[in-house]
Amino acid sequence: MSIAATKNVVLSDESPILNVAMIGHAFMGRAHSNAYRQVNHFFDLPFRVVAKVVVGRALDRAGAAAAKLGFEEASISLEEVLARDDIDLVDVATPNDSHFAIAMAALKAGKHVLCEKPLAMTVAEAKLMAAEAKKRKAKVGLWHNYRSAPATKLAALMIARGDIGVVRQVRAVYLQDWLSDASVPASWRTDKKLCGSGAHGDLNAHLIDLTRALTGLEFLSVCGMQQTFTKERPTGKGKAKAEVTVDDAFCFLARFAGGAIGTFEATRVAPGRKNYNRIEISGTKGTIIWNLERMNELQFFSFADQRDAQGFRTIMCMDSVHPYAANWWPDGHTVGYEHTFVHHLADFVSSLKSGAAFAPNFHDGLKVQAVLEAAMQSVKSGTFVKVNV
Ligand SMILES: NC(=O)c1ccc[n+]([C@@H]2O[C@H](COP(=O)([O-])OP(=O)(O)OC[C@H]3O[C@@H](n4cnc5c(N)ncnc54)[C@H](O)[C@@H]3O)[C@@H](O)[C@H]2O)c1
Repeated sequence: MSIAATKNVVLSDESPILNVAMIGHAFMGRAHSNAYRQVNHFFDLPFRVVAKVVVGRALDRAGAAAAKLGFEEASISLEEVLARDDIDLVDVATPNDSHFAIAMAALKAGKHVLCEKPLAMTVAEAKLMAAEAKKRKAKVGLWHNYRSAPATKLAALMIARGDIGVVRQVRAVYLQDWLSDASVPASWRTDKKLCGSGAHGDLNAHLIDLTRALTGLEFLSVCGMQQTFTKERPTGKGKAKAEVTVDDAFCFLARFAGGAIGTFEATRVAPGRKNYNRIEISGTKGTIIWNLERMNELQFFSFADQRDAQGFRTIMCMDSVHPYAANWWPDGHTVGYEHTFVHHLADFVSSLKSGAAFAPNFHDGLKVQAVLEAAMQSVKSGTFVKVNV
């Protein structure tokens, strides 16, 4: 049987192209490249996003990553890639110690930049990055993807419209257990020279950003403590060991402008906790709770409910009225971790045309860095330290 073609349908997208160069191609490289592949399928955007080139440190590995992750090319020369006119957006998905050099070079080459968190190793670096971004027409963003879940976006909207009243307290924890065992090898994540800090910069950075995004509160001062339980780890090369130069666990107290207070805890040594990223925000009229491990739900308590029917209730945030949800599936069909990156990217790409502000930008990254650094200083001084930016 033959099927007669009545018309030639040309499946081409007329939208202008946004070519991406992604630097680094491991964990975050996989998460970001999934977003590049998915974003135009589910969001109507002013640009067609093209995964153009992966930049790595070894051509064979970068080439294999390009093939697997859906990029057209691979390179080991950032310089050559930045010199190309056809590259529009540079994605920094490398360890923390390289964010500054790569993002600054990309900005100076006139590219848009999406950078992984934490923005930099120090406040001094973050200040230069934020200042450089401000000078440029190009747009910048940070991959604090937890802002971009349907439930966290809804929480921000509910808090902004007063559903829990004036925020008084924030209780935020980010708990993992992958470093509980002393035989887990050292890596860039346990070396202060490469990452700046341990659970603190890795996980508290997300909590700080999420707090600012959900509540609009600014940190005034912080007081922290930290512990490194395993002082050295195998290098993976024979019996050699490497010193662990970062925290395994880091807790801090916070005071916010306006009188609210907060408690923050990040750890990689909490057995049984895999990726327990939970924030509880209490206000004068109610409380909202979000937990990544139940990421499409919000727990909500309100004094506005009838007294005899008061109690926490669960809002399933996958209805078409909820942020991002209608772009995916019919009501109640859930999304996952990887979708937060797609949402984040969709907002960023939209903002390139609309001119709307994208958050978090490098100034937000600087604010996060200032909280991280003040908390680290407070560990040394044993007192509250002002957050200065
Ligand atoms: N947003 C999130 O939820 C999230 C989650 C994990 C990691 N991160 C952040 O993402 C960044 C990368 O973390 P990861 O987990 O993907 O690390 P990873 O170790 O899995 O991957 C790092 C990649 O960078 C490459 N690389 C290292 N130095 C490089 C250099 N100078 N030039 C080019 N490539 C280089 C490595 O070869 C590797 O491909 C870190 O800043 C981390 O804090 C964010």
